[in-house]
Amino acid sequence: MKKGFLALCLAGLAAFSVACGADVNEGGSTSTDGEDDKVIVMGTSADYFPYEFVDTANGDEIVGFDIDIAKKVAENMGYELKIEDMDFGSLLGALNAGRVDFVMAGMTPTEERKENADFSDIYFTAVNLILSKDDSLQSLEDLKGKKIGVQLGSIQEGIAQDQITDAEIVSLNKIPEIIQEIKTGRIDAMVIEDTVAKKYLEQDSELTTFEIVDEEEAGSAAAFRKDDELRDQFNEELKKMIDSGEIEELAQKWFEEEAAPAE
Ligand code: ARG
Repeated sequence: MKKGFLALCLAGLAAFSVACGADVNEGGSTSTDGEDDKVIVMGTSADYFPYEFVDTANGDEIVGFDIDIAKKVAENMGYELKIEDMDFGSLLGALNAGRVDFVMAGMTPTEERKENADFSDIYFTAVNLILSKDDSLQSLEDLKGKKIGVQLGSIQEGIAQDQITDAEIVSLNKIPEIIQEIKTGRIDAMVIEDTVAKKYLEQDSELTTFEIVDEEEAGSAAAFRKDDELRDQFNEELKKMIDSGEIEELAQKWFEEEAAPAE
């Protein structure tokens, strides 16, 4: 299985930055509000262990791989990081409404999303799997006519729509909800990232999985408003963390695996 960290990825051309982004930032986020107000607001969807999740054992703090990266980058950029938790499908809307300054949520920079946001370099990649309770489901063909759970607004929703014939796609807001629906048998299977599926597979021997053949790797990147120079500053700090091996260390901490691609 190919997964891991992409050492360097060209996140498109940071070609030109139109100087008109400053006043979109009115809805409560504060990154451009002046010298001494150095708070930066990140939107996330904390249902995605180990990228971002609520640590119930520790005062319901939101923690994870993305959070560690965001904290470090924000610190190095001279900001205090504030986190806004919301449904995954609301993140880019909140970004463009100015309610958050950037988004980190294991989000894949798709062409469609790039129409409404600028993305940082990719800092991690993974592949998608099918997760179910039913051993007889071994290929996408077997999913014909089944109920397939996906997260609303995710690329997994698109994969299910495009690649599974005649299935009933059930889009829900939170990953744990979909897992629950599979366990109770109301949904037959779900499309989920391998790194996120891992915990559920380990915890529950009832669950089983197969890989989607020929599936491209999906990368994660941070999202910014179009032409926001914050993206370039973020990329600079991200690159330092990549070059120093910090991202790799964090990948090992959270994913317990080699950050560099195995092949
Ligand atoms: N990588 C997928 C996407 O970009 C799923 C991300 C879901 N993230 C989350 N925090 N729930 O669509």
